Amino acid sequence: MSERESSGGVREMLLLVRGASQVVRVAGGGERVKLREAMRDLAVVSGTEDEGVSIAVDMAGRIASVGLDSEVCGAYGGVRWGRVVDVGGGCVVPGLVDAHTHPVWAGDRVHEFALKVSGATYMEVHTAGGGIHYTVQQTRAASEDLLLSLLLPRLQRMVRAGTTLVECKSGYGLDVESELKMLRVLERARPLTPLTISSTFCGAHSVPRGLTAEEATRLVVEEQLPKVVEGRQAWELHVESIDVFCEAGVFDVSQSRRILEAGRKCGLRLNFHADELHALGGAEMGAALGAEAISHLEEISEKGIAGMAQVGSVGVILPTTAHLLRLPPPPARKMIEAGVPVALGSDFNPNAHCLSMPLVMYLACVMLEMSPNEALTAATLHAAHALNRARTHGSIEEGKMADLVVIDAPRWEHLIYQVGGTDHVITHVIKEGKVVHQRPY
Ligand code: NIG
Ligand code: FE
Repeated sequence: MSERESSGGVREMLLLVRGASQVVRVAGGGERVKLREAMRDLAVVSGTEDEGVSIAVDMAGRIASVGLDSEVCGAYGGVRWGRVVDVGGGCVVPGLVDAHTHPVWAGDRVHEFALKVSGATYMEVHTAGGGIHYTVQQTRAASEDLLLSLLLPRLQRMVRAGTTLVECKSGYGLDVESELKMLRVLERARPLTPLTISSTFCGAHSVPRGLTAEEATRLVVEEQLPKVVEGRQAWELHVESIDVFCEAGVFDVSQSRRILEAGRKCGLRLNFHADELHALGGAEMGAALGAEAISHLEEISEKGIAGMAQVGSVGVILPTTAHLLRLPPPPARKMIEAGVPVALGSDFNPNAHCLSMPLVMYLACVMLEMSPNEALTAATLHAAHALNRARTHGSIEEGKMADLVVIDAPRWEHLIYQVGGTDHVITHVIKEGKVVHQRPY
């Protein structure tokens, strides 16, 4: 534990959160995910009639201890706290983790919303030159500074809704220069946001106009990927994963496989879009490659579910997209019961303009029949695991980073139940022991 002695010999700690009715630990024991029924066990520490629950945070922003107020205060008698947050009977849950977003882009697609609501399918809009193609045009034309200025308030809105760790993809450049521009924007955002960003190279998000899927596959493997690798060495580009949109009319299973294998050779984790609109067998292919995470999965087959469960690939479910596009919902229940570690993501992008993980959890409960407990595990520990961060993030456990969300209600489920009420329900968002958002009233 990292305590510090001030010049006067007084022990210092960064933060004390006290007076909680519930601290929802979602403890999984270090890196371990919580499969099947374990997903519902949140390891809640409850207060008594007389006292609440406290969390002590050390000077490195790590959780030092969790227990009844009297126990924690007793253990840290004489300590000088950098800050004390009295929760006044509210609850504390782990900082939310958004396992799938596309947040760097210019030019919204509000004009397509009405089309989709009146029945146009995602692929009809896409093949007519709208969808991703429209956003690619706008994003290519935008300067790095403009993209950064559009990104930062989006990240801030995520923080206000309780997100503390987020996966962010490139993928609206589709050529070497524009993809690198997007990845650079993500690098520039890091010191300007309290969020931890896990960035993903998604040069295979779509087939650029004028190219075949084969040509686009070669472009990604032979030109874009080497430049990303070069960037990782030359200017500390922190790309962790590679993504491809494996879908009929975009990249087929064998092209997707080649892209993912090339990424793997360069040391990237595999985290890709599959089986969203058609049952192509993307999940089976991903499982065979040992993919760390696969997203969407509305059309996943039984074999795909079994394969993912066997290798432990995280199934990242994106209920906003299925809801907006009126897709058959992904079989989240089947996946959980088969032992797939299920996570959640907002899929924030110009199609599904949602920055709120509490809303995503609500949709997961109502549309996908996930229980609130499962939805919270999916939006914290399992999402952190999808991003290779479960050792340090995703639950309230001694030694993990103190990423916390404080809720103004005596039971944590209000975070989901009060749909659309995040601004009201969340009083504090704490990142590594520092308050990065506080409700203004
Ligand atoms: O995850 N399906 C592919 N990619 C995104 C949508 C991107 C867009 O439409 O701009 C998704 O839903
Ligand atoms: Fe996506």
